[in-house]
Amino acid sequence: MRWLVTGAGGMLGRDLCRVLGEAGETEVTGAARADLDLRDTAALDAAVRGHDIVVNCAAWTNVDGAETNEEQATAVNGYAVADLASICARSGALLLQISTDYVFGSELAPAPRGPYPEDAPTAPVNAYGRGKLIGEQAVLKTLPDRGYVVRTSWLYGAHGRNFVATMLRLAGQRETVNVVDDQRGQPTWSYAVAAQLVALAGSAAAGHAAPGIYHATASGETTWYGLARAVFAESGLDPDRVRPISTAQYPVPAARPSYSVLGHDRWARTGVPELPDWRGMLSKALAVPTFALAPSPRRGN
Ligand SMILES: NC(=O)c1ccc[n+]([C@@H]2O[C@H](COP(=O)([O-])OP(=O)(O)OC[C@H]3O[C@@H](n4cnc5c(N)ncnc54)[C@H](OP(=O)(O)O)[C@@H]3O)[C@@H](O)[C@H]2O)c1
Repeated sequence: MRWLVTGAGGMLGRDLCRVLGEAGETEVTGAARADLDLRDTAALDAAVRGHDIVVNCAAWTNVDGAETNEEQATAVNGYAVADLASICARSGALLLQISTDYVFGSELAPAPRGPYPEDAPTAPVNAYGRGKLIGEQAVLKTLPDRGYVVRTSWLYGAHGRNFVATMLRLAGQRETVNVVDDQRGQPTWSYAVAAQLVALAGSAAAGHAAPGIYHATASGETTWYGLARAVFAESGLDPDRVRPISTAQYPVPAARPSYSVLGHDRWARTGVPELPDWRGMLSKALAVPTFALAPSPRRGN
């Protein structure tokens, strides 16, 4: 199969290109932003040509920045994705569009008692989520027979800025770190998502995985505080150096859901197992030498 990975310079895109290489896929085009701007429809059209599967990992991912630049964020996360879906409809390519738990969480819609099922009503909590939802809806509408929306959340990985890397850095700079303890979610390793995407595409190509929405998040749930403690513990540092605070004590421009745990029921019908528990996944991730940055904890104060 001939693959096109957009956003190939990003955290997930880089891991996906790696997983495809490890899986023995030889016809993989990885397009970073410098190679392909998603908003350039003509370039997008030319790039998709000759590919069987397109995985769109490119996105405006500055969640706080999207609050004051919603138009620019939505141009990438919403309207460019709609163009990509139309191009795939014409070319015959299968499209995997990566989306987010932030399509949920607005107080306008009640949170479920348990994890959000794949078909739960969406109610984005912020501008980033609104833009991503426009992209989701375009894919589902334009590609009802081969459009896949894969939501993930709380991603961390070896490449790029992310919460786990930040905790590893702060562990070496500060004696204590204050972390929000009233938002619940599913920390998920980008490499595990990449492997899940390859498995999903294989199942789709074999006619097992029906198109539509899938949740590629780790199982279980925790808070950012719980994740930070686990990062410290996993790195041989004292988890009590992490202190819990509330969302109100850490003001940021974009609202975040207090609960964004996603359900995994649809995987059962694909032959692809759901992703495992977040805690074991974190251990595995931090055991990879390129990821564990071996922070040196500051001592003596
Ligand atoms: N990170 C998370 O916690 C998280 C959570 C839920 C869902 N997601 C979704 O997961 C996917 C992968 O995100 P990630 O974490 O890998 O983010 P990332 O590291 O920021 O990667 C996104 C990539 O998209 C590129 N990009 C931005 N604007 C573009 C444009 N106009 N045309 C082409 N490329 C463009 C970026 O390039 P530059 O760096 O040069 O701008 C970057 O390389 C995204 O769909 C994101 O919405 C992420």
